[in-house]
Amino acid sequence: MCGIIAFKSLNGLDVNEIIVKGLKRLEYRGYDSFGFAYPSGSEVEIMKKVGKIGDFSSEPVIAKIAIGHTRWATHGKVSEANAHPHLSQNNKVVVVHNGIIENFQELKDFLVKKGYAFRSETDTEVIPQYMQFFMDSGKDFKEACRLAFNKIEGSFAVVAMNNNELVGARNGSPLVLGVDEKNKNYFLASDVPAFLEFTNKVIYIDDGEMAVLKENSSPKTSPKAEFFDYAAGSPVKKQIVEIKWNIEQAEKGDYEHFMMKEIDEQKFTIKAAVQQDKNLIQKITDEINNAFGVFFIGAGTSYHACLAASYLFSHIAKRHINVVLASEFPNYEEFLTEKTLVFAVSQSGETADLLEAIKSAKRKGAKIVSIVNVMGSTLTRLSDYNIMMNAGPEICVLSTKSYTSQLAIITMLAYSCAGKLEEGKQIISKAAKFVPEIIDDNKKNLKELAMRLKDRHDIFLIGRNSDFPTALEGALKIKEVSYIHAEGFAGGELKHGTIALIEEGTPAIIISDSRTRKQTLSNAMEIKARGGFIIGVDSENNEIFDYFIKVPEAGAANSILMIIPIQILAYYLAVLRNCDPDKPRNLAKSVTVK
Ligand code: AGP
Ligand code: GLU
Repeated sequence: MCGIIAFKSLNGLDVNEIIVKGLKRLEYRGYDSFGFAYPSGSEVEIMKKVGKIGDFSSEPVIAKIAIGHTRWATHGKVSEANAHPHLSQNNKVVVVHNGIIENFQELKDFLVKKGYAFRSETDTEVIPQYMQFFMDSGKDFKEACRLAFNKIEGSFAVVAMNNNELVGARNGSPLVLGVDEKNKNYFLASDVPAFLEFTNKVIYIDDGEMAVLKENSSPKTSPKAEFFDYAAGSPVKKQIVEIKWNIEQAEKGDYEHFMMKEIDEQKFTIKAAVQQDKNLIQKITDEINNAFGVFFIGAGTSYHACLAASYLFSHIAKRHINVVLASEFPNYEEFLTEKTLVFAVSQSGETADLLEAIKSAKRKGAKIVSIVNVMGSTLTRLSDYNIMMNAGPEICVLSTKSYTSQLAIITMLAYSCAGKLEEGKQIISKAAKFVPEIIDDNKKNLKELAMRLKDRHDIFLIGRNSDFPTALEGALKIKEVSYIHAEGFAGGELKHGTIALIEEGTPAIIISDSRTRKQTLSNAMEIKARGGFIIGVDSENNEIFDYFIKVPEAGAANSILMIIPIQILAYYLAVLRNCDPDKPRNLAKSVTVK
């Protein structure tokens, strides 16, 4: 949801290059309008637009400071007036904001009574206005920002600009500082890809902290960055972290869409997922064995990985684990204890529902293990242990490579709990060797199959055992990227209702393997008998299939592989239906509001 990019430079940078391009790199986060601002003489130049980010100026526009924003409207319609940045009444303070200010009406009423006139319908506008209010009462910009941050209730990442000074702060929405010491430039952004081309050295700002970027006393040295706890105003020490990603990973390269690039990257990300520190895995295994109540929680695709965990831990480790949707988890708070172990599964580490759930678990003293892709994300800072997915940046709104990385890590943990870590890693690495053929051998077939399905209104997916979560995940891929209604369900549920929907030609994707084939194929026959079009995803073909997609048998690692052809099918359905696979309508890469 929304993106922020800002810079402070000793010698000046091109606004096109940094802000406009940076906003384009954040497009995957979802937006409906955008804008940016930079000082021009004693004035502030401000540009806002509804719709997609276009090019701004063919000529370089050099500035020493600038801020930009992609908006995902929560308060006030999608309009230029409501697009960010927002100004204080005297046009001296310029602000961009990600999040929701829950007490904005009360703050706005106070400021209106004090004579401050508002220009937008947004909650955001109270921030620059309050900053001016405090400056009008004699505070300097930094202190005015700090006092304003303490007035806000709700989630926010804010960057404010006044003259040649930038102040950033966060509480619940991501904000990271990029440090380019060599060229004496600083960047503030919602996510690393926005400035990764210029530096991979970052400082993660934590909830309750503010960063102040200002001129140094001696202008010839780089601008300085100071960090404070904005409640107390006390200085905070921060470390520079070097990100292992490079800009190519955050760009499309020769691919038309990030989605296909990231599907292809599974040829190496599944293997990378299980390259973990042995001591860390052993410690987490001990925590699982000593826990009283183990929960796997997540949202969307990450929830499907949690559901697969229940089968994998049952079959491999002979252990029961609880699976709960992140948004539902706080309802279980009553019986959590310090003996509870919670696995938080998330690509972004910023999903609001999940962070809320984790905070409720921590209130009860539960230990938290994250399985997460974004280093330094809020989730990593709330967790006792972090298992990094090592999948590289996932830019497409759809989770593809992150899902199979999650499954690989969960399968490995299940084997570790069974005292067979090395055996598990071998099984996963062997399965990973099948990925190139699954992708390369099936792409042509799947594009042809997509041609046959692209005008269908409904597609059903069926699986049993650990292929049931695959059916749910496959349905999510198809519906969220092609807008075709797709429903996944357990094969055993067919006769309990869904079979009523089967008509002549209704497509049904049957996901099976040696463990579930017999029963799942009987479901296929029931569907076929009612005119269904049967697409088999299995290691063996069968006469019941009208269409067959081969996925080699990989034993307990099957669930890692079975989803891949359905990801590819979903991609081709989207492209054939002129949908944008990287930025589906109404969706955002990271759902940072509840
Ligand atoms: C899946 O393709 C979607 N991107 C969405 O369901 C996603 O899985 C969900 O929002 C959770 O995101 P997270 O893994 O970053 O927490
Ligand atoms: N709540 C603010 C608005 O509606 C910011 C939304 C966002 O995060 O983009 O403008």
